[in-house]
Amino acid sequence: MGAGKKRISLRPDFVWGVSTSAFQVEGATKEDGRGPSIWDTRCRLAGGVWTGANADVACDHYHRWPEDVRLIKDLGVDAYRFSIAWPRLLPKGKGAVNQKGLDFYDRLIDGVLEAGITPWVCLYHWDLPQALDDLGGWTNRDCAGWFADYAVLAAKRYGDRVKHFATFNEFSVFTMFGYAIDWAAPGVTDRAAHMKAIHHVNLAHGMGVDVLRDHVPGVSIGAIHNRQIVRPEGGLAENQAAADLLDAHWNGVFCDPQHLGHYPEIMARDVEPYVQAGDLARICRPTDWMGLNHYGPIYAKADPATTWGYGWGAPPESANHPEVGWPIFPEVFKDELLTLTRRYGLPIYVTENGCGGGAGSDTPDENGEVKDTHRLAYFREYQQAMLDAVAEGADLRGYFVWALLDNFEWGSGYGPRFGLYHVDFETQKRTLKNSGKWYRDMIKGHRT
Ligand code: NOJ
Repeated sequence: MGAGKKRISLRPDFVWGVSTSAFQVEGATKEDGRGPSIWDTRCRLAGGVWTGANADVACDHYHRWPEDVRLIKDLGVDAYRFSIAWPRLLPKGKGAVNQKGLDFYDRLIDGVLEAGITPWVCLYHWDLPQALDDLGGWTNRDCAGWFADYAVLAAKRYGDRVKHFATFNEFSVFTMFGYAIDWAAPGVTDRAAHMKAIHHVNLAHGMGVDVLRDHVPGVSIGAIHNRQIVRPEGGLAENQAAADLLDAHWNGVFCDPQHLGHYPEIMARDVEPYVQAGDLARICRPTDWMGLNHYGPIYAKADPATTWGYGWGAPPESANHPEVGWPIFPEVFKDELLTLTRRYGLPIYVTENGCGGGAGSDTPDENGEVKDTHRLAYFREYQQAMLDAVAEGADLRGYFVWALLDNFEWGSGYGPRFGLYHVDFETQKRTLKNSGKWYRDMIKGHRT
């Protein structure tokens, strides 16, 4: 907490946690019957991932999870948020079930619980089974039903021990980058595909909520959104229309139908052709909380050459931090928390917040110390913003750091490091960074 700042009390049941996702940490992509996902495919495409990296080994969490659970425990957190790999449970996305895949999450969940940590499970963190993409993936309306069937399998198997479930992680990232801009799998760039994917994912979310409610006694259900305030590049009026459309595609298009029962007006006409009678009621299902993944604001600029006529703008130079790669605006985090509380009225968990880093300050020095001062500074500022938001009325119930470990950062491969623990990808050695020590001590401080 910043010097001279008033201490703000968080709820006694405030949840402190750390996050990972299956594809980014597990590795073992060809082991024990797991089927390929669209990200395995992308890793093999020329130019699909920076330096041609893949996640075949990643953090080897599939084998090293007992050590990783000990590391989580050492941080003193309450909860571990991870995702289930759909292609591990259903190698072809539907049909034959892979017993060994089911067993893996049994072991992990039991291990987490034995360590006194609460598992928070996300059903979808971007690793769609490739076999389903071959059938059109999220552009195929049937994909919502395939997701619901997968959700039934996971809910029945794990719902006796897991009570905190999220349907999806960062809806707008994987739909926009995967179907409008070729920055993520499956790499389609088409307006209709983008709109179809949005609507079908929304349907899948609604069906998933119902499945979880029906099959998991005492369940607490949420969805994880990556809301970020959108600003016109350079503050220019000519970029405002771009910012408004990006705001709808990025921030409104999932939260509004899921919680308010309608699409944002500015793009409702684009999605209409794919909406059938009764769909919005199927999408707008009561959930128990909202997850917010937040890093900073984003910028838009007019760009007629792109799928939608807008592009991603650059942040003002003054806000750019060379090490982080993203602009640092803690006050935007505060605004976002307050906006969410006012607009949707649900309890909020920050399911991701964190900061990237490169080889420089994210490498152990000769004494084995990782002096990631930039991340420490980021956490301090964002924590203060979060406390300020709570003081002003944000209904915040928990905070999870992204990430437990340095891991596979999608199209950027192993470039940016987000972990509280440094991972040496040659040896798989984990080293607690100074930011990790700070997080551990900060949690202790809040509890005393
Ligand atoms: C968002 C995503 O959920 C996660 O997969 C990603 O690694 C982090 N943010 C950092 O970019």
